[in-house]
This record gives sequence, structure tokens and C-alpha cells, in this order.
Amino acid sequence: MSAIHIALLGMGTVGTGVVKILSNHAPNIEKKVGAPVIIKKILVRNPNKTRDIATDAQIVTNFDEILTDPDIKVVVEIMGGEFPAKDYMLAALNAGKHVITANKDVVAKHGRELFEAAEENHTDFLFEASVGGGIPIIRPLKQCLAANKISDIMGIVNGTTNYMLTKMTNEKMDYGDVLAEAQSKGYAEADPTADVGGYDAARKIAILASIGFGARITLDDVYVEGITNITIEDIEYARELGYVIKLLAVAKQDEHGINVRVHPAFLPNTHPLAAVNDVYNAIFIKGDAVGETMFYGRGAGELPTASAVTADIIDVARDIRHNVSSRILCTCFEQKPIYPVNK
Ligand code: NDP
Ligand code: HSE
Repeated sequence: MSAIHIALLGMGTVGTGVVKILSNHAPNIEKKVGAPVIIKKILVRNPNKTRDIATDAQIVTNFDEILTDPDIKVVVEIMGGEFPAKDYMLAALNAGKHVITANKDVVAKHGRELFEAAEENHTDFLFEASVGGGIPIIRPLKQCLAANKISDIMGIVNGTTNYMLTKMTNEKMDYGDVLAEAQSKGYAEADPTADVGGYDAARKIAILASIGFGARITLDDVYVEGITNITIEDIEYARELGYVIKLLAVAKQDEHGINVRVHPAFLPNTHPLAAVNDVYNAIFIKGDAVGETMFYGRGAGELPTASAVTADIIDVARDIRHNVSSRILCTCFEQKPIYPVNK
């Protein structure tokens, strides 16, 4: 049975996890796909860097070596940043390759262009890991809840800030020290401003709201306030009153329009989200038929995120092996009324 060859763009926190899972679970994955899945090439910035894990893949620094390789059917973008990641993904789709990404920055800003390229080229564009790390959320929202009119999407969608707020609350750790700890654990973005400033959560809620409400929600439609002004004193004050502070992402749709926002909030200790600690994320989704649903799990980190990326790889590889397509038409670009954002 001929192997399915893939390429990784990036071998940092998430890439290392993907290499580990594909290697450790190779026999199981081969059974699920019906053929072995082999990483043929990995693009990195610095080929001389000492890596945590050995790989038989060829390490390259020029994307063209991947783009022009006819054996490589799937490109997995886990390098991060807007550019050149977006250009590489677009080029791969236009070259007839399937693309998988964990990059919420690119999905939130350029999702439409990439979806359209995937449609035109009859290829897949999957991004399960872009929201909620290891939590299954994109597929459930797009597929399992497709029969519903969604009214509310709400939760904690950034692991770094939830880790920071948890440590600041429980151990009174200093803001700078706990941010450094989240970075060393591989939770934070390369530029952690996106985490602490609320922009990472804003990208994620824009993606979820676009899919859930079937509407085009851009970052400009999201009110964003991060945790940079939260002090230990605020947290203590909340505690005295029976509350905890959490960074919430909220999207609501009513008869007048859509409202999307990210900001810190006081939550009563009895609220289910008050018990979501450490790097965990949790997302409530309310639909008219299903009622309330809740998704919970690790929102960042090497193996949880790689779990979601590798699931996308298995799905695409299975489609290639059986010469079928489970691509779902994206219906999230309709213009709908959106409440104005007071920045
Ligand atoms: P890292 O910074 O740990 O790794 C980035 C990798 O990409 C490195 O191997 C780096 O090469 C390579 N790279 C970066 N820029 C270039 C470039 N211009 N050309 C070639 N190679 C490049 O990032 P993460 O693994 O943490 O994150 C990757 C993506 O996954 C991001 O989009 C992030 O938002 C997303 N994500 C991350 C999660 C996490 O918990 N970390 C969770 C969910 C999503 P080199 O090693 O040589 O420096
Ligand atoms: N920096 C992100 C977070 C990674 O902390 O949630 C997961 O998307």
C-alpha cells in the first residue's frame, strides 16, 4: 500500500508533538488511514538547531522544495505568524495540495481566500487546532451542531492567560514571572502580546462566531480588552466578594445582530467557568435544538495541540487513500448585522 507523504512547515512546540504522535502511533494511524503516513520534509528557519526529537524527514529551509515535490500531498502549517505562512498555504492549495493549519491569525484574517482556493482546487483546508488547542470544537460546531441556529458561543479560549490568572489567583505569582513560565511551557504565542492583549482570544472567537453564525466576522468586529491591567489587588478584591477573574470570549446573535467581545470578567465562584483553571479552556455553545453544550480540555501545549493537528492529518490521509472528499462547503461569509464595537 503506497504511503501518504506529508510535509510540516515548522518543528517547534506543535511540530515536535506532531512528529512524536505520528511516530508513536504509526501502526494505529496506518490502520485508520489504510496506508502509512510519512513526513517526507520539514521546513524550519534554523536547520542547525538542536531538536527534542530525531526524525527521518528531510529538513529544508526553502519552501519551494516542498511546493514542487509531487510526492507531498499534504502541507501542515505549524510555523505561525501571518506571513509567509499565509502565502505558503495559498501556494500549496493552488498546487493541488491539502492544507492543515493551527494558525488562528491566518484563519481569522485570510480564511475566506484560503477556503476559496481550496474549493477551486478541490483540496481540503482544515484548522481544528486553531481554536481550543486539543479540544474538538471546529468539527463539532461545523458538523455535529449543523442542524441548529446558534445563539451563544462563550468561554475561555486562551490557555496562556488562563494559566496566568490561575497562578496569580492561587499562588499570588507576579505577572511577569507567570508569563515567562507560560512561555517556557510552550503555551504563549511567539509574541505574547497577542495572548495578554486579548487578540489571540479575539481571533478564536471571530473564527467560532463566523462558523457558528454563518457570518463574516472580522477582528474589527470584536471588542478586545486583555489582562495587561489586571493586578493581584484586583484578584484579591474579587476573591473577597466571592468571584474569580477570567478572560472571557463572548459571541451572541439575536434578532438585531451579532455581538462579539473579549474582556476580563468577574465570575461567581459557583459558575462552571470559574473552575476552569491552568491551561484548560472551556467553550459553551447554545443551539435552538440541542440546548447548551460545553467543550472542555487543554487549550494549548505540545501534545494536546498536536492531537488536533494529527486528527486533521488522519482525516485528509484517509480521504486521499480512498480517493474521496469529505470537504464541507464553507457557509460563513454572509454579511449580517453586527453591533458596533466601542474600542
Ligand atoms: P514555535 O515558535 O514553537 O515553532 C515555530 C516553528 O516554525 C519553528 O520550528 C521555526 O523554525 C519554524 N518557523 C517559523 N518561522 C519560519 C519561517 N519563516 N521559515 C521557516 N520556518 C519557520 O511555534 P508553536 O509550535 O508554538 O506554534 C505554531 C503554530 O501553532 C502557531 O500558529 C500557533 O499560534 C499555533 N498554536 C500553538 C499552540 C501552542 O500551544 N503552542 C496551540 C494552538 C495553536 P526554527 O525551529 O528553526 O526556529
Ligand atoms: N497561545 C495560545 C494560547 C496557544 O495560549 O491559548 C493556543 O492557541
